[in-house]
Amino acid sequence: MCGIVGYLGPLNAAPVLLSELKCLEYRGYDSAGVAVIENGRLCVMKAAGKLSNLENLLATQHPTAKVGIGHTRWATHGVPNDTNAHPHIDSTGTIAVVHNGIIENFEELKEDLINKGYAFSSDTDSEVIAHLISYELSKGGEMLDVILRSLKQLVGAYALGIVSQEHPDRIYAVNHHYSLSVGLGQDESFLASDSMAVRQYTNRVVRLEQSEIAEITTQGVRLFTFDGTEVKRSPIAMDSSPYVIDKCGHKHFLHKEIHEQPLVLRQTLTKYLRHPNHPIDFSVGDVDPEANDGTAYGVHLTDEEIKGLNHINVFACGTAYHASMVGKILLEELVGIPVAVDIASEIRGRKLLVNESTLAIAVSQSGETADTLAALKEAKSKGAYTMGITNRADSHLAQITPNLIVTECGIEVSVAATKTYVAQLASFYLLAIYLAEKRGTISADKAREMKMQLNSIPTMVEQILAREEEIKETSIKYADAHDVVFIGRGLNFPTALEGALKLKELSYIHASGYAAGELKHGPIAVLDQNVPVITVLMPGTVYEKTLSNAQEARARNAKMIVVAVDGDEQAAKTFDSVLSIPPIDELFSPLTTIVPLQLLSYFISDYLGKDVDQPRNLAKSVTVE
Ligand code: M6R
Repeated sequence: MCGIVGYLGPLNAAPVLLSELKCLEYRGYDSAGVAVIENGRLCVMKAAGKLSNLENLLATQHPTAKVGIGHTRWATHGVPNDTNAHPHIDSTGTIAVVHNGIIENFEELKEDLINKGYAFSSDTDSEVIAHLISYELSKGGEMLDVILRSLKQLVGAYALGIVSQEHPDRIYAVNHHYSLSVGLGQDESFLASDSMAVRQYTNRVVRLEQSEIAEITTQGVRLFTFDGTEVKRSPIAMDSSPYVIDKCGHKHFLHKEIHEQPLVLRQTLTKYLRHPNHPIDFSVGDVDPEANDGTAYGVHLTDEEIKGLNHINVFACGTAYHASMVGKILLEELVGIPVAVDIASEIRGRKLLVNESTLAIAVSQSGETADTLAALKEAKSKGAYTMGITNRADSHLAQITPNLIVTECGIEVSVAATKTYVAQLASFYLLAIYLAEKRGTISADKAREMKMQLNSIPTMVEQILAREEEIKETSIKYADAHDVVFIGRGLNFPTALEGALKLKELSYIHASGYAAGELKHGPIAVLDQNVPVITVLMPGTVYEKTLSNAQEARARNAKMIVVAVDGDEQAAKTFDSVLSIPPIDELFSPLTTIVPLQLLSYFISDYLGKDVDQPRNLAKSVTVE
């Protein structure tokens, strides 16, 4: 959350900063701002709200500065307004700072600085950094040493961009438990939280490691550890093909991304599974090794290591957590190893019981989620093998684990995750079959049959998408609801949770997902004729029991909607509305049952006029704990 950018070179800095920020708006859209050094003076322009507000402001100012830093904010401390927007400046107005992260001891530092006569204008934790640097500068020393002295007093995790009016020839960047990249061009340099933002200008990138500071000039970058020791690191070459960020005729990115799911599934499956008769091959890279992009790829556990595993721990947040819940059931069913799935933020302050026979898996679309990374690092420190499932081969997650499964989704622009969810699910199916074959817990015939079933899923998703007009008609009937309950059992309990999360995020309607059997243990009290209950009802082991739970809801006059397979007569009799999907084996059903629920949330959100691609209060990448 929060995106940091910087530029120095021959171009006008403001438009470059703006174009970098456009690539980082997914990190937060509460406010945006830039600080440039114009004719020897530091000049800050910032605006609350979406980046377009800053764009409009810059259009009236026409700055011609050649150096500057910029920021897009997701508010942690202080409401989203112009004053709390970054960059923050010191009292002399000569130092500007942009910050991603949280300064945990800011109150103490702020009090101390106020006592020393420094005047604060914002409610943020970030402003303290600008004043602290100013105070340290007043004691003398080179700017690099001044910043290093200041960093020693900060507690927390942070990434920073710093410019000073006295040094218009450089930008300082600091990385402490985040990601920052410096892009190197011809007599120009760029800074960004995500290398994707500099890719439009250069493919030569130097990544800052943990606890490093960079001194960036037009001629390159010098790196130092926090104790001032210089570190030499050569630039890496990124894949230079530009990302295409285009709605391609769809009204919203979300709609486009829901419709990309058959393609994404095909790409992710065929990457690791060439043919049902062949073993799954996770050793294949997601990037051209020639590209030397420095990231890990593939799975490198030996057969002996796989056979020696006795426990799996999965860490994830939000949608990735729901995919992991499905993963747990699959892994336990096929591999026969106990699997624990935790909401990553819940690991903090708890005793994490992992050891040298544990495989710890972090699942994160962005590969930047602070809670998920922290949990994996803790498991790693206790000796567990680690693995990541991510959509970003160039992420922080890719740097901290040698075993990586990369989903083939392309960039997911919409803040609500859709295509990355089904790709994470597909990764778990592949991983479960892979580990089961290696450990001999499923027969070759069973593995082959499962691979064939997996390969048939993209076509089924296409068939569901072809029904979207019917789904739209049904969805809009329930758009006036204030509370919606989703229920499912077994593999489709996570579908109920994910369906509810999508509806909340996209429409702001309160929605909750429950294990269907749990409804009677309390949640049923909220039901009446105004509360729609959406049941995920798939033929198989839990069909009858799920149906009974739905009947209990119907007996309370709830409006009844169901996701059921074509030709389910019982469903047609019991429910007011049916979202039907092609028949599917229960084991694979989470890959398709979610699709009508994604569409339902999309259509309700659009019908209600909500901000479909950038729902309020959210950010795509959540980099604070
Ligand atoms: O990038 P990650 O997969 O780690 O993100 C985890 C959650 O923040 C994310 O899934 C979030 O819940 C989405 N907005 C869901 O649509």
